[in-house]
Amino acid sequence: MPINKLAACHKLAGAVLTIQLLFSVTVSQTQQFNYDEAKVGAYTLPDPLVMMNGRKVASPRDWAKRRQEILRLFETNVYGRTQKSTTRISFAETSRDPKALGGLATRKEVTVFLTGKKDGPKMNVLFFLPNNRKQPAPVFIGLNFNGNQAVSNDPGIALAASWLRDAKDTGAVNNRATEKSRGTESSRWAIEMIVKRGYAVATIYNGDLFPDHKDGLKESVIPVFYRKGQTALEAYDWNAIGAWAWGLSRAVDYIERDKDLDAKRIALIGHSRLGKAALWAGAQDERFALVISNESGEGGAALARRNFGETVERINTSFPHWFCGNFKKYNRDVAALPTDQHMLLTLIAPRPLYIASAQEDQWADPHGEFLSAKAADPVYRLLGTDGLGANEMPGLHQPITTTIGHHIRAGKHDVTNYDWEQFLNFADKHLRRNH
Ligand code: GCU
Repeated sequence: MPINKLAACHKLAGAVLTIQLLFSVTVSQTQQFNYDEAKVGAYTLPDPLVMMNGRKVASPRDWAKRRQEILRLFETNVYGRTQKSTTRISFAETSRDPKALGGLATRKEVTVFLTGKKDGPKMNVLFFLPNNRKQPAPVFIGLNFNGNQAVSNDPGIALAASWLRDAKDTGAVNNRATEKSRGTESSRWAIEMIVKRGYAVATIYNGDLFPDHKDGLKESVIPVFYRKGQTALEAYDWNAIGAWAWGLSRAVDYIERDKDLDAKRIALIGHSRLGKAALWAGAQDERFALVISNESGEGGAALARRNFGETVERINTSFPHWFCGNFKKYNRDVAALPTDQHMLLTLIAPRPLYIASAQEDQWADPHGEFLSAKAADPVYRLLGTDGLGANEMPGLHQPITTTIGHHIRAGKHDVTNYDWEQFLNFADKHLRRNH
C-alpha cells in the first residue's frame, strides 16, 4: 500500500477509535449512575440506636451519649472537625432601610467580624425584618450561592466583595459581583412571602466563608484557625461544608445579640450543597430550632449506601473541597462508612426537621432522602416526638408535617414558592413561641 494511503487509513482508524473511545466514555459516564430503583441493590444501614460497643440505646439518656459518638463519626469521616475559635465575634451595622419591600420590611446589613477583629475574616449578613411585629421576629436563615445582592433586586444591598463564580447566571465579571448580579437568585428567596408571614430573613453568601471552588481553601476562613505550625489540612480537618456550617453558627451568635430577632426561633434552611451545610450546622449547633433540607441529596439527606443518582465517589471527585480528606477513603467502599446520612438527621432530633425533594431531581435521590428520614424516625420517637408520619414516600404535593416533615413536588432542582409555603406552614406549626 502506498505510504500516503496507509497514513490515510491510519488516520481513519484513529478517527474511528477516537469516536469509539468518546462513545464508550459517554456511555460509561451515564452508566456509572443508576436511576433504576430495581438496581439499587441491598445495603445495611448502621443502627443509630446501637452504641459502638454494641449496647442498645434504650433511653433519652443513652441517646445523649450515642449522639456524641455519631457527631464524632461525622467529624472524623465525612465533614471534618470544625476548629474551635477562641475569640468572640464583633459586628457593625452597615446599612438600614426602614421602608424596604414597599414598607413591609426593614432591610439591614451587618458585617460580622469572625475573630472579633476588624482586619480579620468577616461575613456580611443581610436581614429583612417584618415591620408589622410586636415582639422579636422568628428568623429563617440560610446561605446563598451568588452573593447577598443576588437574593433581591433591592439596589441598596452591598455587592458581595468575595470571589464569585463567573457565569451568566451570577452576573459576575472576573469573579467579582457587578450590578448585573442583583436579583439573580431572587426566585429562590420568597422574601415578601416570608416577611408577610411574620418571619425575618437572614442570609449570607457562602463565598464569604469558603469560595466554592477547589482552590478556595486559601481564601477561606479555615487557615485563620490553623493550629500552631499547621500549614495544610489534615484528613480529619473541616473543609468547605464545615466552614459554611460554622458561618451559620456565627450568624446565630449575632442574632442572640439583636433584640429585633428571636434567637429561640431560628429556622435554618439550605438548598442543595447549602442544604448539606444546613444539616451539618443544625447537627452541631442546637441553637437552630428547626432545620430544612431542600434537595440536599448526596452528602446531605440522601442515603449514601443507596446506589441511586450521585455517588460518594463522584461528589468527592467533582467537589474535592467540600468534605474532609477521610471521606475520600470511602469512594469505592461506601459500605465501610461507619455512618450514613440518616444518622446526620438523628443529630437534629428532637428538633423539627423538614426534608423537601423534587421529582425531576433524581440526581439527589428523592426516595433515598425519604428513606433516610424514615431511618431517623426511631430516634425521634425515642425522644418522645411523633417522628415521620408516613411509612411510604407520599405522592407529589402531599406534605407531611409531623416532627420530621417531608414533601416531594413536581419539577426541577430548585427552591420554589411552593417549597416556601410548606416551610412556612411547618414553621408556624412547630416553632412555637418559647416565651
Ligand atoms: C451538584 C452536586 C450536588 C449539589 C448540587 C448543588 O449537582 O453534584 O451534590 O447538591 O450541585 O449544590 O446544586
